[in-house]
Amino acid sequence: QLTPIDRAKYTAAHCAADFVQDGMRVGLGTGSTAAWMVRRLGTRIKQEGLRIIAVPTSTRTAQLARDVGINVVSLDEARWLDLTIDGADEFDAELTLIKGGGGALLQEKIVATASDQMIVITDAAKEVKTLGAFPLPVEVIPFGWRATKALVEEVLASMDVMGQNSSLRVNGDKPFVTDEGNYILDLDLGRIGNPRQLALVLNQVPGVVENGLFVDIADQVVIGHADGTCELRD
Ligand code: A5P
Repeated sequence: QLTPIDRAKYTAAHCAADFVQDGMRVGLGTGSTAAWMVRRLGTRIKQEGLRIIAVPTSTRTAQLARDVGINVVSLDEARWLDLTIDGADEFDAELTLIKGGGGALLQEKIVATASDQMIVITDAAKEVKTLGAFPLPVEVIPFGWRATKALVEEVLASMDVMGQNSSLRVNGDKPFVTDEGNYILDLDLGRIGNPRQLALVLNQVPGVVENGLFVDIADQVVIGHADGTCELRD
């Protein structure tokens, strides 16, 4: 039995999976919403004989895709993609996103920007007026991460961003490690007034690999509702 939020995620995932056409090259996102989409594509492959070239955005998604009968290739093999379908942690009216709650933001951003089109799948609760209530994930190199963290906080202070607290994401009593072997700092900002500027500035800090702000990347958002209907934003 699914909760209303899970039903909404399931619905968004199914609506978006129907955009996939035979022969497409598709990026597969990461997270619980994206997982529903991957399962749905597996079903379409079995039932309709749908043929796709699929590139996963994490080892987790790659495993699930194989489990449901989707043949996955690397981005280097696929080279470019028609469409990426992925979840998000927050989105605003400009379709700017915060991603990385699941820790896969780096591969997700690379795959999404290698795609002609990115469709975000979500429930309505993730729509915000101003981004930032969800802590912004920033992927950093393990080497010297404390120095990187201090520099990131200094940069935030100089930009007059509300909160300057960042915390290392942990997994039990160890740092959480991404698929690329990096760490994640979660920035508790409260409110991100200028996501475009913040995204650029964060990536200037030595040790920062990538941040979870997706600016001008998403083309459409499919919002699922618990009653089984979908809404499209673009
Ligand atoms: C993964 O790194 C994130 O970017 C996900 O897209 C995000 O956390 C959404 O997760 P759910 O679909 O589980 O809400």
